[in-house]
Amino acid sequence: MATAAIVAGGKGTRMGGDIPKQFMELCGKPVIIHTIERFLKHQEVENVIVGINPHWHEYTEELVRKYFSGGVHITDGGADRNDTIVNIIKYAKEKLSAGDDEILLTHDAVRPFVTDRMISDSIAMMADCDICTAAITATDTMLVSADGITADDFPLRSTMFRVQTPQTFRIGGFIEMLDRVPTEQRAGITDACRLFHMNGKAVKLIRGDETNIKLTYPNDFRTAETLVKSCCT
Ligand code: CTP
Repeated sequence: MATAAIVAGGKGTRMGGDIPKQFMELCGKPVIIHTIERFLKHQEVENVIVGINPHWHEYTEELVRKYFSGGVHITDGGADRNDTIVNIIKYAKEKLSAGDDEILLTHDAVRPFVTDRMISDSIAMMADCDICTAAITATDTMLVSADGITADDFPLRSTMFRVQTPQTFRIGGFIEMLDRVPTEQRAGITDACRLFHMNGKAVKLIRGDETNIKLTYPNDFRTAETLVKSCCT
């Protein structure tokens, strides 16, 4: 069995609006509820822990009470994405007695289209690695540009992937990787895969999906509405 860590501590600055994007309604239900549902209904996921900005804690508790009868836990998010994961791990250990071997599927609250298959693939991959991430092949030609004005390099497209979530690892592994990084350098590492990679660990890929979009800008919301259209009719 595994635990889902839904990172929801962000403010959604690029999306704009009155409330953080994870609470915006998508076909009559808040985005975060869609996301939690996907994990809660998976046979191999025992608990879902949500890391939320403390300001929105009560609001989230009310939402969770409205939509679920159990299995969903809420804790405070942190200053960045990895900080939110640290808080979720703390909660898992202290309140749910999770051990170092517990598999943690970390997932963006604002990716409501994660599939059963991606969750299963991530858990299965953990038999063979320290960390894995959902990723999809790049369809556009990619270029590297440090200043955004002039191209520095054109990497081979077939070697380029776009990173999605879930990003999956064992609780003990994550803590060990973080402990190896001096505190003053931690702020720059907001991504778990980068953290493992810089510590010399292989980051394995599982197949993501074009539909597993992250709601970042208002336009992504319009795409998401199209994707869930079938459930609204
Ligand atoms: N996140 C988090 N804790 C933070 C910052 C981000 O848990 N301190 C989460 C977000 O809630 C989101 C995911 O990480 O589910 C991906 O981050 P992003 O899309 O960048 O979300 P925001 O930080 O909310 O967006 P923005 O950068 O536009 O403010």
